[in-house]
Amino acid sequence: MINENLINEYSGTTFSVTKVNGVSRMQYASSDEHWIENREEYGSIFMGDGPCPDPDNPFVLGSVLHKRIFEDIPDYENVLVLGLGMGLLPQYIKENKSFVKVIDVVDNNQEVIDYVTFIDDSINVIKADAYTYTPDKNYDLIIADLWWHHQITGEMKDNLKNHYWDNINYNGRIYFPINPIAYIKTA
Ligand SMILES: C[S@@+](CC[C@H](N)C(=O)[O-])C[C@H]1O[C@@H](n2cnc3c(N)ncnc32)[C@H](O)[C@@H]1O
Repeated sequence: MINENLINEYSGTTFSVTKVNGVSRMQYASSDEHWIENREEYGSIFMGDGPCPDPDNPFVLGSVLHKRIFEDIPDYENVLVLGLGMGLLPQYIKENKSFVKVIDVVDNNQEVIDYVTFIDDSINVIKADAYTYTPDKNYDLIIADLWWHHQITGEMKDNLKNHYWDNINYNGRIYFPINPIAYIKTA
């Protein structure tokens, strides 16, 4: 999670941020269901470090599915995150994955980009539409985190996978944490 002392409440056009019991909550104007809270679990679960309730019980999966995505993954030095939000994922990676050398983030909302000044300076934020952005480098891990709940469709996944495939290194992958599923580039 981000240090709460760095986050200010905000009331804007496309989103607002309020503190509830000391936890910042970013609420997008697009829908009541489009919100994100400054919680450690967001980064830890999505990056495979979450608590494992019972790995032997398939009915109590918890974050086991996310853990599996990272089971055979080599150290991923170059990371692209699609969707800035509060910056929870890129900041978690910065603080917990010391082998990562590059963290780039794409978001199409300039207001969000202007607001999120509290993440590490080494994280590069790029204003672009994630579906059309063409990176100038290749990545070991691309994390597509553009959705809330289950708005994601198979077509969206295919479009992003096809669009970024040439920018994924050998044994690299594009990961959809909301599902969770990853496509590995093996050749
Ligand atoms: C669920 S939030 C991302 C949370 C973020 N990864 C984090 O760690 O806090 C989704 C973000 O994706 C952005 N987004 C949605 N559609 C997009 C698109 N087509 N291109 C770029 N960004 C997009 C939204 O502006 C929003 O900031």
